[in-house]
Amino acid sequence: MKLAVIPGDGIGPEVVAEGLKVLDGVVPGIETNSYDLGAARWHRTGELLPDSVLRELRAHDAILLGAVGDPTVPSGILERGLLLRLRFELDHHVNLRPARLYPGVPGPLAGEKAVDLVVLREGTEGPYAGNGGLLRKDTPQEIATEVSVNTYFGIERVVRDAFARAAARPRKHLTLVHKTNVLTHAGQLWSRVVEEVSMEYPDVSVSYEHVDAAMIHLVTDPARFDIIVTDNLFGDIITDLAAAVSGGIGLAASGNLDVSRTNPSMFEPVHGSAPDIAGSGTADPTATVLSVALLLDHVGMTDAARRVEAAVAFDLATRQAGSPGRTQAIGDRLAALASS
Ligand code: NAD
Ligand code: IPM
Ligand code: MN
Repeated sequence: MKLAVIPGDGIGPEVVAEGLKVLDGVVPGIETNSYDLGAARWHRTGELLPDSVLRELRAHDAILLGAVGDPTVPSGILERGLLLRLRFELDHHVNLRPARLYPGVPGPLAGEKAVDLVVLREGTEGPYAGNGGLLRKDTPQEIATEVSVNTYFGIERVVRDAFARAAARPRKHLTLVHKTNVLTHAGQLWSRVVEEVSMEYPDVSVSYEHVDAAMIHLVTDPARFDIIVTDNLFGDIITDLAAAVSGGIGLAASGNLDVSRTNPSMFEPVHGSAPDIAGSGTADPTATVLSVALLLDHVGMTDAARRVEAAVAFDLATRQAGSPGRTQAIGDRLAALASS
């Protein structure tokens, strides 16, 4: 396996170092190539993602990314020019974001409600498509638009993946989360595709929730969710809340998948570059380590993936409440557990 690594900005390099430590513990000697992309490169050269780097990235089996975004760079430059460009160019149409409250983890919800769900977030369309603009710029009549793009093609491929995953889980339940009462055009298309694909999965039960009410239920009754399929922007927001109710953003992993396997898929924590704690040694690398487990699953190294997950489960069950330890200490513990 050839792995490309993009540490990125802020806590990105700190958590990626620990992810690689754990990876080396379970599968020693993987060929890794690190790419210097992010705020520092942009300041130095003005480059975000040169075509030559993109070509090199394509020649890898997978990508591990830390985070991008920095207070010294105008908002959106790195996010759109680097992270979203990677997701779009590499056709990462299924954004896989599991959320599970592990035993022993202090959940924030009264009654320690169970959380074990997977969000399948569409990854290449919706309001993220960049289809918009400014009219009458710098006038009092200025108009900004961000037009959400929803194609049958794009919806169908994430919905199919969501049904396949639902069918393979014990509860076999899929919830479409949208806002069909207001976003009626996109809502009808999403609903129709879910209905059509559901015909092929008679064992999977299907429900629908408006995104606002779904956020109530994610806090009051998270156990009602098994697989959630949703659009790009709703999925972004839902998965930060899903992380918060399952032990915190420091534990939330993700995979940006090209299900067709034409391009390398990319694995990254759900969180960002956390400039507020960067350099303090307090970032929790567990989200990155769990993203490494998703990566190992994706490339077929399922035994190694299970060992990484078991290490995390053991560590979380035995952590001292409220004091997980410092970034490197957590990485050392997880690497030792996973490789033993
Ligand atoms: P953030 O996820 O970086 O931070 C939100 C909060 O969570 C902060 O209080 C932070 O300290 C905390 N946090 C995040 N990761 C943590 C970890 N591993 N351990 C402990 N605490 C953690 O979100 P933000 O502050 O909104 O964004 C900061 C920058 O990151 C912005 O530039 C944003 O665009 C970017 N961003 C990038 C990604 C990505 O690369 N995938 C994701 C989200 C945000
Ligand atoms: C995430 C992030 C990104 C997103 C940003 C940084 C572009 O919030 O990975 O969740 O919105 O997808
Ligand atoms: Mn996000």
